Amino acid sequence: MTYSCFKAYFPLLLLNVLFLHIDCMSISAYTLERQRIMKSEESDMFGSSLVLNKQEGLISDILIKAKRAEIEDSRVNGTIFPPAINFFESKKLIDSSKVFQIIKRMPKGGALHTHGSAITSLDWLVKNVTYRANCYMCHDNQGHLQMHFYDTPPQPSYCQWESVQHVRERSGNALLFDQQLIKNISIIVDDPHSTYVTVNDVWRRFGLYFKIVNGLYRYTPIFKDYLQQALREFEEDNVQYIEIRATLSPLYELDGSKHDQEHKLLTYRDTVNDYMAAHPDFIGCKLIQSGIRFFKRDDILDDIKSYVKYQQKYSDIIRGFDLIGQEGPGKPLSYYLDDLLYPSTLDPPVSVPYFFHAGETDWEGSQVDLSLVDAVLLNTSRIGHGFALYKHPEVMKMLKQKDIAIEVNPISNQVLKLVEDLRNHGAITMFANDYPLVVGSDDPAAWGALPQSHDFYMAYMAMTREDAGLEVLKQLAINSMQYSAMTSSEKMEAMKKWERKWNEFIIEILRQHSHDGQLIG
Ligand SMILES: *[C@@H]1O[C@H](CO)[C@@H](O)[C@H](O)[C@H]1NC(C)=O
Ligand SMILES: *[C@@H]1O[C@H](CO)[C@@H](O)[C@H](O)[C@H]1NC(C)=O
Ligand SMILES: *[C@@H]1O[C@H](CO)[C@@H](O)[C@H](O)[C@H]1NC(C)=O
Ligand SMILES: *[C@@H]1O[C@H](CO)[C@@H](O)[C@H](O)[C@H]1NC(C)=O
Ligand SMILES: [Zn+2]
Repeated sequence: MTYSCFKAYFPLLLLNVLFLHIDCMSISAYTLERQRIMKSEESDMFGSSLVLNKQEGLISDILIKAKRAEIEDSRVNGTIFPPAINFFESKKLIDSSKVFQIIKRMPKGGALHTHGSAITSLDWLVKNVTYRANCYMCHDNQGHLQMHFYDTPPQPSYCQWESVQHVRERSGNALLFDQQLIKNISIIVDDPHSTYVTVNDVWRRFGLYFKIVNGLYRYTPIFKDYLQQALREFEEDNVQYIEIRATLSPLYELDGSKHDQEHKLLTYRDTVNDYMAAHPDFIGCKLIQSGIRFFKRDDILDDIKSYVKYQQKYSDIIRGFDLIGQEGPGKPLSYYLDDLLYPSTLDPPVSVPYFFHAGETDWEGSQVDLSLVDAVLLNTSRIGHGFALYKHPEVMKMLKQKDIAIEVNPISNQVLKLVEDLRNHGAITMFANDYPLVVGSDDPAAWGALPQSHDFYMAYMAMTREDAGLEVLKQLAINSMQYSAMTSSEKMEAMKKWERKWNEFIIEILRQHSHDGQLIG
């Protein structure tokens, strides 16, 4: 080291700022600067502000060890890294992962991004709902399956309704019939790459799935069981709270008559209350009323007007408004701007909590991509997906300033073909910069995912550092309550219920680990 270098470098060390050229830097200065950069990034990381207690720290070590082993085996030996391939192909691998086993057991708080038509497993729909009396099926003139409950089915020329019970009996093999039925309804395929080449291919199939499921679960008595079953499945996945994007499409009766929107709200509310009475650990379920972003402006304005009416009357169950449906070809938020501003023009102005889906697209700079800007200007409480956010630095800055949470849905984005390898997901930069994030599952039943665990696994394994531990998962759980549509007193109750489960989880995993000696080894 030259004398001048030495002189320059010594006081700078104290300041922790370095102007030196590398050829003029001692090895130790280089190392210090390297450490400073790494430390800075570490402290910017999502979850880094949480301080884990000693027991949590032990579990974090177990988790990191398992995470590192899965990652390193892939990096060094070329084994398949599950988040890098389509979920339809990776699910089996994930289910046998040690990290996943811990995540499954972990109390994950609330699920803030789900849709009413895809929260109850298809398995249950087929093995339970289609076994009930008055369930009918037919294939329309395009060969698409439809299902519905009827007293006496209509006999239109395009679809010959037949009792499912009869078709099942005629098949001679109920087990095989059910397997086929599941396969025919599901969007899950063995070869997702060739079956679904474009985003539109998979969305078309997705639309057919919803049509069949809607026919089944919107029959009033089924709806109640369907919702209870959903809550049960979420709770079994250690999720204690759920917010559902719900259209207020009416429930029907056997004679084909339809109820009104309020009937649906009340049925939601009563069913949730029944469930809560029998499951005191459960925190609750709230709705975000959802219009369809293909509908006419008048329809959306009607939706908003009814929301304004319901939000006071049914504030115990309904907490916000959103627009849903495939964004790419759909209408941007700006198309409905006057309708969305309508509540603010009332005298006195009404404040509607918006929870907009936005940025669920790969089309940068298009009208739909710019919905991200409108969502923020319309004071959205959270952003659904925000997949395209990394292309909008100014919007990102505003989200952080206004503390607006982003609902990241990893598997949805992969299955619906916005990104293949989840290590290339735009949310990674938001994890690295400690944005207010929550992880959701969007339509878990449609891709055969657990209510939250598979998406938590993806976020943890593919979107955070190899050495990020339990603090990431704990922060996600806490955020899911903090950024929920609950009131502040509800949030406090929720935190208590969750903390009780969390402490049990910590003790159980530690006990199991010391038992097995080598739970994770
Ligand atoms: C790679 O595979 C070998 C042989 O199975 C194994 O011993 C080794 O631990 C693996 N390396 C990593 C980094 O997992
Ligand atoms: C499933 O689809 C196949 C092929 O279209 C058809 O042959 C079969 O009858 C269907 N089974 C059920 C139960 O829907
Ligand atoms: C279907 O689900 C209901 C509860 O929703 C349950 O009571 C019933 O036993 C189930 N039936 C079958 C055949 O699994
Ligand atoms: C959004 O919030 C800001 C600041 O509170 C307010 O000035 C503005 O009017 C709101 N915009 C809408 C559309 O409600
Ligand atoms: Zn969604």
